[in-house]
Amino acid sequence: MNDRVGTTTSAGTRSASDVNTLTLGPNGPIMLHDVHYIEQTAHFNREKVPERQPHAKGAGAFGEFHTTKDVSAYTSAALFQPGVRTEMLARISTVAGEAGSPDTWRDVRGFALKFYTSEGNYDIVGNNTPVFFVRDPFKFPHFIRSQKRLPDSGLRDNHMQWDFWTSNPESAHQVVYLMGDRGIPRSLRELNGYSSHTYMWINSSGEKFWVKYHFLSNQGVACFTGEEGARMAGTDSDHHRRDLFDAIARGDFPVWTLHVQVMPYADARRYRFNPFDLTKVWSHADYPLIEVGTMTLNRNPANYFADIEQAAFSPGATVPGIGLSPDKMLLGRSFAYNDAQRNRIGTNYYQLPVNRPKVPVQSYLFDGQMAFENSGNALTYAPNNGGRAWSDTTGPVPDGWEADGEMVRSAYSLHAEDDDLTQARHLLLKVFDDAQRERLVQTVSEALLAGVRSPVLEKAFEFWKRIDETTGRRIAERVQASR
Ligand code: HEM
Repeated sequence: MNDRVGTTTSAGTRSASDVNTLTLGPNGPIMLHDVHYIEQTAHFNREKVPERQPHAKGAGAFGEFHTTKDVSAYTSAALFQPGVRTEMLARISTVAGEAGSPDTWRDVRGFALKFYTSEGNYDIVGNNTPVFFVRDPFKFPHFIRSQKRLPDSGLRDNHMQWDFWTSNPESAHQVVYLMGDRGIPRSLRELNGYSSHTYMWINSSGEKFWVKYHFLSNQGVACFTGEEGARMAGTDSDHHRRDLFDAIARGDFPVWTLHVQVMPYADARRYRFNPFDLTKVWSHADYPLIEVGTMTLNRNPANYFADIEQAAFSPGATVPGIGLSPDKMLLGRSFAYNDAQRNRIGTNYYQLPVNRPKVPVQSYLFDGQMAFENSGNALTYAPNNGGRAWSDTTGPVPDGWEADGEMVRSAYSLHAEDDDLTQARHLLLKVFDDAQRERLVQTVSEALLAGVRSPVLEKAFEFWKRIDETTGRRIAERVQASR
């Protein structure tokens, strides 16, 4: 007879055993009224939430953003006022791999930040590259599917990836980044984060500016070669998550310095290319980096599921002094994330501690699955005569912009130098050195040799030749010599 009793059921009553089921005789059938066993099994069957559709594998930590410079001329947002310190959360992820996939597969890295500001939560949901593959949100699900798995075999497929990229030449700039060294960061501490999108900043006089964020790693940028990444994927598939967790645990806190590029509002119309096109960067000569402050990750999650898996970031979460922009991708995203989270986590995902703002929430959202917080017997409708507040502002919105014209479907491009390849070519020829270009030729050739068939193979040679004739020729020659 053993009388150790240490657990309870979820109803708080003492449970007799966590190790032996209740049976009719020592070898007999299990009794259905072993409610503790039934509860354990039933809960186990439900203990996962669906993984994020893209960006399923990631790692995260809490920290602090400290505004060390004065950018109040550009934004009235409380978190960016001089000296303000704001608690925050970061999650850095791969895009295409599943929740258990290796950290060091070649991929773009997501760089998602949640700032618990005194004016509500502000999220920046960016990447470790300043540009993206497509510029219209309609293409996003197709893009992600092309990076994931084949419907019949369930296998990843280079043919599909290159079919998508070569059919969407605006992806060239991002593909050069991805096939270059930044495609495999050495650690999550040694990569930069970018908003990629253009946002609006509004100062206390109501003056508007367009901004892009650059979180530059104080640890520097370091990458694995394809070979090192493949070896690490086999040795420690959680290398990036482990490295971040261990560094923070030993007090070696990673720091990023935030800079912004600021474009006066009126410049957007006359800039030489569309400043809201997510496939392009702004020249630093035209809009130099302006320092804002530092972000330090200094606290590991206490519980990975509660703090990181259930975290819900949204590009639509802005605060006063910050707005969105006419970037169609950003506008599409401002809907997509919270919708995904209602499905992934639940209707009331925003009530969870990691997502809850640090300021009081007064909203007419109520009830629904797993509702935990509620407004008691306060009236559930607005307007009302029962004393419960509601909002009612009319007229131009502080973070708005002018728009007119017919409703159309178009790939926007009204600026003189809008094209798909110039910046991709610049990155390849002017930013990369010979050794980096050589590694890119090697990476692309290996990818094309691993399952890319005609006519996509020829389209891929053409894709690279259009970016740079020499690089394209070298890739074609290397692939043809090895076939
Ligand atoms: C229209 C285009 C896009 C759509 C519809 C879209 C949609 C999504 C969805 C549904 C998720 C999963 C959200 C969740 O379950 O919590 C996600 C995650 C993410 N996306 Fe996007 N995405 C788009 C473009 C982008 C772009 C351009 C970037 C970067 C500049 C980006 C960065 C991220 C990041 C970092 C995450 C992971 C967030 C986290 O750590 O929880 N996405 N995206």
